[in-house]
Amino acid sequence: MNFITRRKSIDTLSEGGHRLTPSLSWPHLIALGVGAIVGTGIYTLTGIGAGLAGPAVILSFALCGVICACAALCYAEMSTLMPVAGSAYTYSYAALGELVAWIIGWSLVLEYTVAAAAVAVGWSAHVSAFLVAAGITLPDVLSHGALVCRHGLPLPGAFGNGLFACAAIDLPAVAIGAIVTALLIIGTRESATVNLILVAIKLVALVLFVAIASTHFDTARFHPFAPYGFGAGIGPDGVKRGVLAAAALIFFAFYGFDAVSTAAEETKNPARDLSIGIVGSMVICTAIYIAVAAAALGAASWREISSTGAPLVHVLELLRHPVSAQLVAAAAIVALPTVILVLMYGQSRIWFVMARDGLLPERLAALHKTRGTPVAMTLFAGFWVIFLAATLPLDKIALLANAGTLAAFIAVALSLIVLRLREPARPRVFRAPLGIVVAFLCIAGCVYLFLNGLPQFTQAWFVIWNAGGLVLYFLYGVRRSRLALATAAAE
Ligand code: ALA
Repeated sequence: MNFITRRKSIDTLSEGGHRLTPSLSWPHLIALGVGAIVGTGIYTLTGIGAGLAGPAVILSFALCGVICACAALCYAEMSTLMPVAGSAYTYSYAALGELVAWIIGWSLVLEYTVAAAAVAVGWSAHVSAFLVAAGITLPDVLSHGALVCRHGLPLPGAFGNGLFACAAIDLPAVAIGAIVTALLIIGTRESATVNLILVAIKLVALVLFVAIASTHFDTARFHPFAPYGFGAGIGPDGVKRGVLAAAALIFFAFYGFDAVSTAAEETKNPARDLSIGIVGSMVICTAIYIAVAAAALGAASWREISSTGAPLVHVLELLRHPVSAQLVAAAAIVALPTVILVLMYGQSRIWFVMARDGLLPERLAALHKTRGTPVAMTLFAGFWVIFLAATLPLDKIALLANAGTLAAFIAVALSLIVLRLREPARPRVFRAPLGIVVAFLCIAGCVYLFLNGLPQFTQAWFVIWNAGGLVLYFLYGVRRSRLALATAAAE
């Protein structure tokens, strides 16, 4: 067997060590899902998305909701079939073979790292908004990345020629990146109780926002509804705009539900709890997002909210509700760091499983003797999260994270189809309703968003990242893979 055909066996994967005690039911899963999903996407990207699609960004939210609900059903089936760590990477290893699994694992490392940086930048925007309302204005040069700042120190020569606009650093984003890295090194994981409290804080803030903004609703603000059309046309400034382009950006707001699928093993009645938990959290988030976006766009002009990193806070300030604006900013400041924690933790899990499979040097994922956490790897990931968050604008980071996620969703849906055809009789604890149709819809939606919605810049970086990954794989993993060694020994 070569690197293209060698696959893990599902039987070995599902045997996987001791099983966790089934103690969760669907309300727990919905809380877990909503906790992992709601974050910078709705609190920050709503504004940038509105700048790309106008009021029609509401349609972008609906489109992403449908695609992600299909992906969520595929995740539910795969995670009950293979209830072990590694998510899309592990499913691909069993269904599609080692090479595809490597590409997906490598893409997930990119997704989690870059998404954590994006949430850090969104958090920073809320810290700045909160401080401004309290009468403290951080200088631009300390609150924006070097690619975004307007009044920093101009850089000479090549750097000043556009690569970096000026010497500047997003200090709050650096601080939160460093704090979360430190927490992960100490060994912090989100607890169910803390998660419930934070879910409540995030949702109450959004409900407060909708309640106030909808009293200022004016349908005139929805004309024109889609100023840039429904596709993703490239404007004279080289920026892709339209419903599709906005969907490729705010797609960021929807992921995180794979956190629910990782709890598959702990559910009391997987067939019922997983479908209600995963699809339920998706439906709830989509409904909340559409309500928040509609309320924001009905209360303020889309142009007005498109240039701020804290659009909901900005709308409340425009409507002269300063106390509520402060409360919403505070809710984001309190609740968003756990999203960073979950993302960085997810990154370390993928890296860890890839190293355990021999595809990456095991030393990189070594656990600290006393703490039991992968210190070296967490520091390395933390460095990149901080570096990206310190320098890059939010939309660029979020788009890059989305490229990795779209690839992972495609792989999970493809795994479902392949396994349904290859092993139709294998018992499935949870069967996605209309499984193959749902998987095809997921693939079609993700491929369409990837090719048509994402800017060329992002597509190019995704390809460069994976080309580098493939070089690494052929230099190292292809020979060191445990599966390769085991297969060679058996032959
Ligand atoms: N869905 C998560 C967020 O919006 C990643 O922050």
